[in-house]
Parts: sequence; structure tokens; C-alpha cells
Amino acid sequence: MPPWNDRFLRACRREPVDRTPVWFMRQAGRYQPEYRALRERYSLLDICRQPDLCAQVTLLPVEQLGVDAAILFSDIMVPLGPMGARYELKENVGPVVERPVRTPEDVARLEPLEPEVDLPYVLETIRILRRELRVPLIGFAGGPFTLASYLIEGRPTRDFLHTKGFMYHQPGAWHELLRRLTDSVILYLKAQVEAGAQAVQVFDSWVGSLSPGDYREFVLPHMQRLFAETSGLGVPRIQFGVTTLGLLPLMREAGGEVIGVDWRVGLAEAWQRIGDGVAVQGNLDPAVLLAPAPVVRRRVEAVLAEAHGRPGHIFNLGHGVLPATPPGMLRQVVEWVHELGGQGNGG
Ligand code: CP3
Repeated sequence: MPPWNDRFLRACRREPVDRTPVWFMRQAGRYQPEYRALRERYSLLDICRQPDLCAQVTLLPVEQLGVDAAILFSDIMVPLGPMGARYELKENVGPVVERPVRTPEDVARLEPLEPEVDLPYVLETIRILRRELRVPLIGFAGGPFTLASYLIEGRPTRDFLHTKGFMYHQPGAWHELLRRLTDSVILYLKAQVEAGAQAVQVFDSWVGSLSPGDYREFVLPHMQRLFAETSGLGVPRIQFGVTTLGLLPLMREAGGEVIGVDWRVGLAEAWQRIGDGVAVQGNLDPAVLLAPAPVVRRRVEAVLAEAHGRPGHIFNLGHGVLPATPPGMLRQVVEWVHELGGQGNGG
């Protein structure tokens, strides 16, 4: 058995590491022939509800790619079911909610999550994984804004008009919705860590659709409470969203140990905006992985050059792996990052 690999956790704590750690958002998914074959027989939620199978799906990319962390296979929508939202994960579309949240009464109907009762299979998957893994396991939850956006819109959107309309027209109900979501996210993350998750990522993927002023008013207080109430867990907490350039200082104010950024900002500039004292995760454009190998290598070098050997860089994509990605290219990127990226030694 290979020795325990802790360079991901060391980088989260901004300690020097022998090699820059690397993992990929959506490292388990449709780019893998094995995953596509499984999905012929099981829905995504079927996989999540069977701990042995779910653990296998989580482990597969770790074994195939040589990444430095595993991420629990699940979906940000999973805790919303037991809270009372009926939804479907539609192929090539994403989450579709049967009765979108549009009124204060809809908000009042949302139940608090009881992770041990509602989602025992998630916690069992985590326990299985901890016995199998030689790299750290990342648990996760959706950010309250991003979860609210799916509940309110009822389906994926680009402009978030229903979400913002709800926010501006019914600020009281909005804050109550975010309070309820934040309560459940806190309990869910705690349960995952108690079951064995060694880091957690908050996927606030779509929060970058807000202006800094609206983030401060409508989201920041909830994110601050989320991070305050999970600080005692003793594990690194990663915040991630796309198009967050203008929000980075506020995300820093929200809390957590690591901030994940997408490719729309250079890593050096992102780091400067975030400031010292937290680690940074990112930020290769996932579309680059469809390019010829020499182009990919140059882009990997460019990301590492922007990180400039600073402690506290975790290499990742700026968003999830695309289904058209050649699996061999992901493996190659892991090798390049490990070959080229060393920290605390000047690059
Ligand atoms: O490997 C991992 O990263 C862990 C698994 C994971 C999934 N979803 C599995 C999944 C994680 C971390 C998520 C989080 C998630 N889910 C987010 C946040 C990250 C992000 O992408 O911004 C969001 C917004 C969702 C909601 C969601 N679920 C979307 C937008 C989709 C894609 C729709 C599509 O078909 O392209 C899903 C479905 C989903 N969740 C897939 C996977 C692997 C797609 C493949 C499938 O249906 O089997």
C-alpha cells in the first residue's frame, strides 16, 4: 500500500510541500467510460444511495489519475430532498425542482436537515472511504446562495432573475430561506466531518452573479455564520465559486482556509485580491484539457508560474471536468503538476 499522502492538507494549511497537490472538481463523472457504463444501470442518486458503489465511484479517479485528494461522490442537491424539495437531476440540464420556492410560505415549509436520519448512506460512504483511501477525503455542500438559486429558479439559469427578484422583493423571506439553508449546510458538514471527511468544500458556484454590494447584504452574513459555526471542526474549509473576481475580498471576509477561483482571473491577481493568510485553489480552464498536449502543458506551467512557489497553492481546474475530456490528459496534468510544482522552495 502506498504511504499516506498529506500534501493536500499541508497546502490547505499553507505549509511547505514536496509537490504542489492536485485534484479536480468532477473528477468522477461522464468523461470516464466506467462511470458512463454504471450510469446505464443506475441514476446518479441511485449511486449516492448505495455506499459501496458510491465509494467505488469516488475511488476510481483517485486510482486512475494519481490525484492528491478524493472528493465524496454526491451532488449539492442531495440534502434538499429531505428538506422537502422534490427535484430531478436531468441529463445534460442539471437540477430541476418540481415546485420552485416563490413565497414566504414555501420557505416556511422547508424542514431542517437531520443528516444521521436523512442521509445515513452519505455518512456510511465516508466511513468506507476512510478505510480505503491513502489521500485525504473532501466532503462538500452547496453554498446557501447557490442552493437557494436552484430552489427559486426551479432549473439552471444564466441570469438568476427569479432569484434576484425574490431577494429584492421579499428580503425577509430571502434571509429566512438562507438561514434555513445555512443551518442545514452547517449540520451536514459537521456530520460529514464526524464520519471522517478531512476537509470540506462549499460549492457556492453561482454567487459570482451578484454585485459586491448585494453579496454583502444578501449572502455575506450567512456565509460568515456558516464559517463561524464550522470553525471548531478542525478541518480546512474551501469556498468555491465562478466569476468571483469582484467578490474575492468579501469571500475572504466570510471565512475559511482556502478560496477556489476560476480561470477568468489570473491566479496571481486573485491571490493579491484575496490577500495572505488563506490558501488558493485553481485555476486551469477545463476547456484547455481538450487542446493538444503541448498547449495543455504550457497552460499548466502558466498556472504554476502564477502561483510562484508560494505555500498554499492547490492545483485544480477553475470548474468541473468537462465530459469530452480525454482521461489520459487528466493523468498527464497530474504528472506535470507533480513534476513542475514545488512550494516553499521558490517555484
Ligand atoms: O467528482 C466530484 O466533483 C464529486 C461529485 C459532484 C457532483 N456534483 C456529481 C454530478 C459534485 C461535487 C457536484 C456538485 C454540484 N452539483 C455543483 C457544484 C459544482 C459546480 O459544478 O459548480 C452543482 C452546481 C451541481 C448541480 C448539478 N448536478 C449540475 C449543474 C449538474 C450537471 C448537469 C449535466 O448533466 O451536465 C448535475 C449532475 C451531476 N452531478 C453530474 C455529476 C457527475 C453529471 C453526470 C451525471 O448525471 O451522471
